[in-house]
Amino acid sequence: MMWEADSSVDLWADSPASRAADASSETGRFVTGNLTSEDLDVERSLRPQRLEDYCGQDHIKQGLKVLIEAAKSRGECLDHVIFSGPPGLGKTTLATVVANEMGAQIRTTSGPAIARTGDLAAILTNLQPGDVLFIDEIHRLNRQVEEILYPAMEDFALDIVIGKGPAARSIRLDIPHFTLVGATTRSGMLTGPLRDRFGISFRLDYYSIEDLADIVVRSATILGVEIDRASACEIASRSRGTPRLANRLLKRVRDYAQVRGEGHIDYPIAREALEFFEIDELGLDWMDIRILETLVKTFRGRPVGLTTLASAVGEDPNTLEDVYEPYLLQCGLIVRTPQGRVATSAAFDHLGVEMPSGA
Ligand SMILES: Nc1ncnc2c1ncn2[C@@H]1O[C@H](COP(=O)(O)OP(=O)(O)OP(=O)(O)O)[C@@H](O)[C@H]1O
Ligand SMILES: [Mg+2]
Repeated sequence: MMWEADSSVDLWADSPASRAADASSETGRFVTGNLTSEDLDVERSLRPQRLEDYCGQDHIKQGLKVLIEAAKSRGECLDHVIFSGPPGLGKTTLATVVANEMGAQIRTTSGPAIARTGDLAAILTNLQPGDVLFIDEIHRLNRQVEEILYPAMEDFALDIVIGKGPAARSIRLDIPHFTLVGATTRSGMLTGPLRDRFGISFRLDYYSIEDLADIVVRSATILGVEIDRASACEIASRSRGTPRLANRLLKRVRDYAQVRGEGHIDYPIAREALEFFEIDELGLDWMDIRILETLVKTFRGRPVGLTTLASAVGEDPNTLEDVYEPYLLQCGLIVRTPQGRVATSAAFDHLGVEMPSGA
């Protein structure tokens, strides 16, 4: 086979999380966007494989269940699916779950990894009937590559141009029926024609504390560490609605409990550990705090443009927008205005700073 399916490490190498890791690896602190290779190994072992193991996002689970059952009973492929939402909420996990539930093989690649049209043509012609083709960060496909995808999605066909100039002619090759699963952290950056070709579209939301606590308990069982519900809820409440962070906090708390406690995680140890790692009650890490402090103290509540803010805090603008901003917006700590990002009164309160009059 020309093309290998599992390239998850490469995929990660281009994800928003890894960009954050590059930007903050020197600090050695617990940073929301900073994943180590050990985190990635654990992440893979904790990844639910079937729909029934996937906690939360009930509307998506119910929807997928019906659609998968219907497709299977007709003996057809599932329609093409797109998952969108902030990093770490379970898009890649859902792609795997879809393939497993369909009893299909999954082929994994990403938008930035497909540089030329020939790369995509090779991938498509090597698919087996019924395969799931997962394209992560699908909003980063280039235009020419995207155009190859349209007939593939619609008619399961590949248009190839042979020859050059006036002698050039186009031939159409049939390819096996497959399901394209796309994932994107930026649904707004998808082109209209691509978006329209997905029959099924799901947007993932931040998780509730209860759902995250279920995930923490499930992960603790897999990691072989004892935890009570109150501690799971404490970890969950500081995980920014994000399973990836809940799992990472769980691991840090486990380490702390092993060294400073007796190995199992109880409420006092959980709280002590979270304080030790500087995770505050809202789950904000030091980079979030730095962003808020910049808006509140340096700019005193005035609007700040994205690039100015990014350079003030020493972070990449894309990471700021993809990883940090959505949660700060969700918490009502900042707002986006046409003039730039603005700290709200809740941000001033959170930092214990008085709001300047007129801000
Ligand atoms: N619903 C869930 N139930 C249990 N665990 C989950 C769930 N969703 C995500 N996870 C855990 O969180 C980790 C991160 O999820 P995943 O890699 O699927 O996120 P993602 O949305 O693809 O992120 P990115 O945008 O950075 O690629 C997974 O390894 C998995 O262990
Ligand atoms: Mg992913």
